[in-house]
Amino acid sequence: MGNTRRDWLRQTGLAVAGLGLLPLDGLAIPTIIKTRENADEIIRLRSNENPYGPSPSARTAMMEAVNKSNRYGWQLASELITVIAKKNKLDDDNVLLGCGSTEILDIVVRYAAKTKGSLVMAATTFDYWTSIAEELGLEKKSIPLTSDKKHDLKAMLKAIQPDTKLVYICNPNNPTGTICDTNELIAFVNEASKKTLVLIDEAYIDFTNEPSLINLVVGNKNVIVARTFSKVYGLAGARVGYAVANSAIIADMSKMQSSNSGISVVSAYGALASLNDTDFVKETIALNEAAKNYTIQQLEHLGMKCIPSVTNFVYFSLINYKKDYFDLLSKNNILGTRIYEEEGKWTRITIGAMDEMKKFIKALE
Ligand SMILES: Cc1ncc(COP(=O)(O)O)c(C=O)c1O
Repeated sequence: MGNTRRDWLRQTGLAVAGLGLLPLDGLAIPTIIKTRENADEIIRLRSNENPYGPSPSARTAMMEAVNKSNRYGWQLASELITVIAKKNKLDDDNVLLGCGSTEILDIVVRYAAKTKGSLVMAATTFDYWTSIAEELGLEKKSIPLTSDKKHDLKAMLKAIQPDTKLVYICNPNNPTGTICDTNELIAFVNEASKKTLVLIDEAYIDFTNEPSLINLVVGNKNVIVARTFSKVYGLAGARVGYAVANSAIIADMSKMQSSNSGISVVSAYGALASLNDTDFVKETIALNEAAKNYTIQQLEHLGMKCIPSVTNFVYFSLINYKKDYFDLLSKNNILGTRIYEEEGKWTRITIGAMDEMKKFIKALE
């Protein structure tokens, strides 16, 4: 992928005020609606964020936590680990907390790259983190997706060589919104993990009806599952993610993270509150489903092929679209993404709230 997120910030030149960060009335924002009204100058359909979050109880908890921010949050981070572990029927030493799952991916890569070798992953998939792998000496082997834009698990298994240090499966896959068949994925993980470390990135699994593969980690020293609070829980800006794995790998990986690092007190309170706000999660999923169905229907009406999506984003082809898609986005203050695959001109759009998706479609009509 060409652009980094740093480039993105530079290119879009978003002013702080445009992001809704100023004036500092954030502490007084009482409801979801108010935030959305504040945010409407720019329609952000780029980074698969949750347009409705944080949940009401996370907002309250985070506002109260501001007053506790004079202290380090080590104890609180331990509490969050315990809650995550219990929720997944695991022990505390099966969980590693990170500043977003981005930090988890960084740690896994640095752990896997302690000795040089190769990294097997799909093309196209979430790969902002792979430049680190390459810098550290892992040779990237990209395995094309199937024609329906899914991981080609058979080909990925074949690509594993004695020198392979890591296999990455993004499930569901970003940017395509597809998911592996659970039984096939379990068979793949069981086989691949006999040979190498397997990282399953489940950033979007909560949007689906498929089970997490977290229960594979306990008895298998070569499986790591990465999760995040950034998506269905609506805490992208709070930066909370975690890995679950066998306690031996967690212990080894935690050596790659400074023992003095950690999420903020505000973020920890937000994450703890979010885990209890099941109504918000249900509501997010229902609203996302409705806005996604509308978007797919309208894009197809405009002649654009869409890949069925189990996530909060849609991958679609601009090949039959005759207008200048990116220019129209820019003129309408909409942040979309880019072309991920030249062949077929595939791009991705995040599913925002229904009113945002209506503006998006109107801009294209
Ligand atoms: C598949 C996937 N993994 C990981 C991340 C990183 O998320 P975060 O660092 O916010 O947890 C993202 C972000 O968009 C993602 O799409």
